[in-house]
Amino acid sequence: MHHFQYKGNELCCEEVPVSNIADEVGTPLYLYSHATLRQHFKAFDGAFQDVAHLTCFSVKSNSNLAILRLFALEGGGADIVSGGELFRALRAGIEPGKIVYSGVGKRVEDIEYALKSDILMFNVESSQEMLLLDQVAGKLGKKARVAIRVNPDIDPQTHPYISTGLRENKFGIDIKDALEEYTVAAGLRNLVVAGISCHIGSQVTLISPFVEALRRLKKLIVSLRDAGINISYLDLGGGLGITYDKETPPHPREYGQAVKAELDTQELTVILEPGRVIVGNAGILVTRTLYTKKTPEKTFVIVDAAMNDLLRPSLYGSFHAIQAVKFKDHKKIKADIVGPICESSDFLARDREVPAFEVGELMAVMSAGAYGFSMSSNYNSRPRAAEVMVKGENYYVIRSRETYEDLVRGETIPDFLKWRNLHKRDIHD
Ligand code: LLP
Repeated sequence: MHHFQYKGNELCCEEVPVSNIADEVGTPLYLYSHATLRQHFKAFDGAFQDVAHLTCFSVKSNSNLAILRLFALEGGGADIVSGGELFRALRAGIEPGKIVYSGVGKRVEDIEYALKSDILMFNVESSQEMLLLDQVAGKLGKKARVAIRVNPDIDPQTHPYISTGLRENKFGIDIKDALEEYTVAAGLRNLVVAGISCHIGSQVTLISPFVEALRRLKKLIVSLRDAGINISYLDLGGGLGITYDKETPPHPREYGQAVKAELDTQELTVILEPGRVIVGNAGILVTRTLYTKKTPEKTFVIVDAAMNDLLRPSLYGSFHAIQAVKFKDHKKIKADIVGPICESSDFLARDREVPAFEVGELMAVMSAGAYGFSMSSNYNSRPRAAEVMVKGENYYVIRSRETYEDLVRGETIPDFLKWRNLHKRDIHD
């Protein structure tokens, strides 16, 4: 359930017509519904209310400060994968004691930053990382709480680029080697073995891969106990899918029930790292039609949003529904919705039956709240879009549209390239 609905002929975000915001803020534009974000967070978190748990929102799915703050106010923590995400989480007011840090390539500086911030737990992904973490913690006179991110070798049956728990993937430590690695960790002076973690993939629409992964973790927990290693946190990662088109993913309630049915101890705090399921359908991308053109082969609707704004269709061939912002009795056409970028992979929809959009008309690219803005770039020197949050009858710009000055911030032309030198070819060469 989300709050992007037609009132009369106007697509509204909560109580505000989308076209009003587009006219005032310009396009392309990411638009989020506060009520939807909150409701989705509560639905997910509520699914675990009767067990000790911590919902650590996955910052990579949407890292806007206002959105992180909203979840912080609901008691949420953060799942981070970089120093930059830690900075955002802390800036948004998320408690360090509710932050877990995964990622296969943690840099020394980022490890130091996280240790100094006193985060809850490092999800360690290799034996080298574990030794480095011990060393850095020792140097800082800190103890690092660790979980081993285990690769359980589970097929989550999702797009290959977002499967992470298969043996061939780069993530985690093979479950078969985990006991040995835990024994090493337990012997390291500056580490405290605190948990176990896994994340099998994203946009998972079945319950069974989650349950199977959990069963494999449970077996490992028993072996750990037998070896005298007791953990307090069971981090199940994120990955629950959403409906983009016709998918029928489990409701968070069903996911929660399935997980809880497998838990046979009250001693563990369950950590969850949802991203997409909370923000995916709470945001849309609004774009305006620039031109339409017919070629011998196809009809193209050229819009002002592009693959730099929403990469998912180009990268994964993902489906995002396209809707008219002002509903008319549009004729239907089969078209490609494309952006201005100089790449044939720059499309938002392909061979799609859509309303026959005319020049100047607005469209909404649905389900764009997760991995939308957070994966955007400046390719083709396009300033990144504005982000707006709607609450009831009001809207708030939560990230201004970038300017041309923003595009060149931090760039410098070294002295040897100064104009005067360029006029003297000999010096330049
Ligand atoms: N935890 C870890 C360790 C992760 O790697 C991820 C996502 C999550 C949690 C959150 O997963 P979620 O609940 O959002 O599925 N860019 C891709 C998705 C990449 C997901 C990467 N990891 C997309 O646009 O579909």
